[in-house]
Amino acid sequence: MRTSFISAVLASQIITSYAAPHPIEVIQNIDWEKELLGRSDDGLEKRARSEKSIDAVFKSIGKQYFGTCADQNRLSGTNADVLLADFGQVTPENSGKWDTTEPQQGKFNFQGLDALVNWAQSNNKLVRGHTTLWYSQLPSWVSAINNKATLTSVIQTHVSTEIGRYAGKVLQWDVVNEIFNEDGTLRNSVFHNVLGEDFVSIAFAAAKKADPKAKLYINDYNTVEKGSTYAKTTGMITYVKKWIAAGVPIDGIGAQAHLQSGESKNVPASLKELCAIVSECAMTEVDIVNAAASEYVTTIKSCADIANCVGVTVWGIRDPDSWRASSNPLLFDSNYNTKPAYSALIQTLGSYSTAKATTTASATGSATGNSTLSATATPTQSK
Ligand code: G3I
Repeated sequence: MRTSFISAVLASQIITSYAAPHPIEVIQNIDWEKELLGRSDDGLEKRARSEKSIDAVFKSIGKQYFGTCADQNRLSGTNADVLLADFGQVTPENSGKWDTTEPQQGKFNFQGLDALVNWAQSNNKLVRGHTTLWYSQLPSWVSAINNKATLTSVIQTHVSTEIGRYAGKVLQWDVVNEIFNEDGTLRNSVFHNVLGEDFVSIAFAAAKKADPKAKLYINDYNTVEKGSTYAKTTGMITYVKKWIAAGVPIDGIGAQAHLQSGESKNVPASLKELCAIVSECAMTEVDIVNAAASEYVTTIKSCADIANCVGVTVWGIRDPDSWRASSNPLLFDSNYNTKPAYSALIQTLGSYSTAKATTTASATGSATGNSTLSATATPTQSK
């Protein structure tokens, strides 16, 4: 079928070109890939040839991924092309939240999350799970519960059903999200109001049982944005230390990092403090008002510089799709062109990986007597 279609197109182009004044030029100007295979020329290929994948560069310095949030509506067209080319992990932006996954008690809906996880599996991408317990996007039937035993059982059912469904397919889960106030105390929510702080251990225990291999995270905002002495940061550290000491299976802290312009200077020291008290940590929802290149570099470099910071997730690919679109906080513009921040990251992190490869290669070279290794090492994978 395709052969006859291709032959017909070829024949018609040759006939047209035969009658034209510059037949060769006419044939050369045809975008055969587009004509014959239906590929759209959206400019991505042009960019992809000149810029590296931020995920590949991040992996080359020993990190697990550079990811972005996504959902089913972002898995086609140019968005999917960029996702495939430049990102190594997807986090469900909305499809994993309680109001979507269990809008009525016991009536689960995993259509959107299934689609994302299946897409990730088919395309060799990692998944961060987001999120089982959050005070927001919470159905009213949960908020109305005022009995400890009922709420405990509801949390256990919700967490074990959602996390258990994807056991073995999700790298990390945000088991609890945004549970702290700005003053470092625990936020008012049905969970806290009914169960006190026990809701944390109840949720983590259920998560651990449902997927023993997933890394279990506590995720929040304004924990690296404001500085290491900010009450929310120190409050989180005090609680998490206490819970881990009590045996709550918390593996990681997620720093959302929704930054205002000028806040990046606060990130390195704060992230270091948070990462120091857990096995691993990650930046989970990065976006920066106005996306200044220097601010992105300072922010992402802070994860690059911490050994147990395993990855970074940006909260969207292109500006118009951001939850705060008017502040243009992401790495791609509305036409999917990379912004200066993307290029600056490739440059900065690329020099890390070159240095790392040179060090490794020199060590190998001195061991083997091969002094040319450092010059030939190609640490970053270009597309
Ligand atoms: O899907 C419905 C649609 O059916 C309806 O017609 C429309 C009308 O408002 O709303 C749609 O739902 C919206 C949903 O995004 C999907 O687009 C919700 O109103 C809207 O509130 C929701 O916003 C999300 C927000 O979390 C609240 O859940 C944002 O997309 C998402 O980026 C944002 O992400 C959060 C993280 O989960 C936690 N940290 C902060 C971060 C930014 O707010």
